[in-house]
Amino acid sequence: MTTIFSGVQPTGIITLGNYIGAFRQFIELQNEAECIFCIVDQHAITVQQDPDELKQAIRSLAATYIASGIDPEKSVLFIQSEVPAHAQAGWIMQCTSSIGELERMTQFKDKSDGQDGVSAGLLTYPPLMAADILLYNTNVVPVGEDQKQHLELTRDLAERFNRRYADVLTIPEVRIPKVGARIKSLQDPLKKMSKSDPNQKATIFLMDTPKQIEKKIKSAVTDSEGVVRFDVENKPGVSNLLIIESALTGAAVEELVAKYDGQGYGAFKAGVAESVINHLAPIQEKYHELMGSDKLDEILDEGALKADAIASATLTKMEAAMGLGRKR
Ligand code: TYM
Repeated sequence: MTTIFSGVQPTGIITLGNYIGAFRQFIELQNEAECIFCIVDQHAITVQQDPDELKQAIRSLAATYIASGIDPEKSVLFIQSEVPAHAQAGWIMQCTSSIGELERMTQFKDKSDGQDGVSAGLLTYPPLMAADILLYNTNVVPVGEDQKQHLELTRDLAERFNRRYADVLTIPEVRIPKVGARIKSLQDPLKKMSKSDPNQKATIFLMDTPKQIEKKIKSAVTDSEGVVRFDVENKPGVSNLLIIESALTGAAVEELVAKYDGQGYGAFKAGVAESVINHLAPIQEKYHELMGSDKLDEILDEGALKADAIASATLTKMEAAMGLGRKR
């Protein structure tokens, strides 16, 4: 059976970009494959985090996974730092990487550019991500487009390890969604929608109220043509809104263009906002219910046990292949 693995960082409330790029794929895949989903808290500390906020964000992300449709009966859900093999295999992957290839990662360049006191972890984050994936003999990794380069590195590192030592690691494939691989900022549709955007109006958060969603979409940057057409290059703002509505409703972009034919941007934005609000309402309800219950801890305890069994077995094989310790 195919094994799916993916992870999301617990840093603040997740965005509509995370949801469309990643979570929607997770839900789709969990009926056809063995799925393992991770709350990658060790990745979050590559930049300084407030301990109380991080703790809360981990819980909130666990609730979001389940409220979005991850069924703990079908999928394994766990916290990265609760399975020690991640840090251990992460070190092995760091020793398999060269500094040059890590410095070439565009996400590292973007995040470190012009910053003082960049942590070493920000540079060595991709080998940890490779370890996350490789520990589970993963075949397919569903992610948004921004993670594609990290996946290419993961494949390179796995191939390098297998060549140097023994054929231990499975080479994973990346899976990028057809619609919504890169949801754009509502204020600058050339940039990706991001949790850390300083402009509050640029990002829709999954737990935004209907009023906030309406307001943000109403003030989304479009163009002066006044015609709802799909044209990513010349009409990035309108196209982004069409992609959002298409991803959430399942309607093809062409159908939506026909639906808004002859209507102005006011009606178009109101329609998109309505689709977003309707889609998120049941998720939000379930999320709030879960946040107030003990169920999350049970799910995460069980997930950590299951993940640990698989990850430790792979780590043992990796260490034995390398001659570490006394394993064979
Ligand atoms: P993270 O936490 O930044 O994002 C989680 C997922 O959301 C996707 N995503 C988007 N998709 C479409 N449009 C957007 N605007 C958008 N913003 C984010 C991301 O592509 C991702 O799939 N390094 C990873 C976490 C990670 C991981 C892993 C992923 C750690 N280990 C192993 C897969 C497998 C990250 O920072 O994602």
